[in-house]
Amino acid sequence: MKVIKITAIIFLFFLIASGCANENVQIKFDVDSNLRYCHNQAQRTLTEIGDTTLIPRNILKDQQHWNLYPAVIGEWTAGFWPGILWYVYENSKDEKIKASAIHYTELLYPLSKLPAYDHDLGFQLFCSYGNAFRLTGNGEYKQIILNAADTLATLFNPVVGTILSWPREVKPRNWPHNTIMDNMLNLEMLYWASKNGGNKELYNIATKHAETTMKNHFRPDNSSYHVAVYDTINGEFIKGVTHQGYADNTMWARGQAWAIYGYTVVYRETGDKKFLRFVEGVADKYLDNLPENEYVPFWDFNAPNIPNEPKDASSAAITASALLELSQLEDDEIRASKYKQAATNMLIELSSDKFQSGESKPSFLLHSTGHWPNKSEVDASINYADYYYIEALTRFKKYNSDN
Ligand code: GLY
Repeated sequence: MKVIKITAIIFLFFLIASGCANENVQIKFDVDSNLRYCHNQAQRTLTEIGDTTLIPRNILKDQQHWNLYPAVIGEWTAGFWPGILWYVYENSKDEKIKASAIHYTELLYPLSKLPAYDHDLGFQLFCSYGNAFRLTGNGEYKQIILNAADTLATLFNPVVGTILSWPREVKPRNWPHNTIMDNMLNLEMLYWASKNGGNKELYNIATKHAETTMKNHFRPDNSSYHVAVYDTINGEFIKGVTHQGYADNTMWARGQAWAIYGYTVVYRETGDKKFLRFVEGVADKYLDNLPENEYVPFWDFNAPNIPNEPKDASSAAITASALLELSQLEDDEIRASKYKQAATNMLIELSSDKFQSGESKPSFLLHSTGHWPNKSEVDASINYADYYYIEALTRFKKYNSDN
């Protein structure tokens, strides 16, 4: 009897200890100090760029200061800087940051009045006005998002069943109807609009896009193409190719991250388990192919000179944010904790001296790769890496204080 009792006590001790070990990894990550770091860096950026109508987009490898771009049509990253400021405001309640967030958000207003140039309208207007409405409840912002969602939907082709991503590439590349994986991120604005007073058909468009993409845009091993090309007459899938990855048959790291994030949102919005089962496969493909004991991937999982290839911190930031949400939505506890742990490991690595810019530059993160085939923004600080990093920190804080 005594032996059984002692065995039970030892078992209980190990059970509690292993539970604590799991919790400890979460607790050891100091989310508040990293959020304070983001606040400081954003203040540095505001001081550096001064009173401007330009948007900070990148700091290249050998530079120390932001390169600024106008918030015009075609500048797909324009929504991330105001979005960053909204997240900084959400966490700090700093009214000066809020005033700047409003200023940079409202610079994007003209984009809501123009015909759709490409699918990036969601990135541009939902990261900016979407966060602005979420945090202020301003009805004018809501109307702007509803208008933008209707405009984005004009690119939907019902014969194919997806949104045309790049109208400008139809002729030069002979891609009659092209859809890029990144486009999955723009569905969130359509779902939001359909549930917030907009056209209900937007929900069906978003879901059809997700279903068609699920069918054609992935290889049997769950890795994704960057671009899917379709026939506009019969709607058939013609081929999968790359644009920003290494080759047509490789796994571009940010593309796979967009897929994980996109299908997590689609599952959240539809509650359809087929999307949950699908995103698990896509996420596992990413996690199973990370470099050993590292959580930030190389820019393409199959780039030929690994480990001597640039990393892509943006891919890890997007994935960390997505996996944190996925861990909350999971119906399988083991997977939920696996995804939470993986996201935490990504955040720990991104928050290390190796990846944080620190004093050297006013961005949050170093080592993202924008467009390796064009040799542009290679090993750089880029505003979307910072956006998804602070979004992930915000989610981490929320989920760890909710539970
Ligand atoms: N949407 C373009 C990119 O991910 O670089």
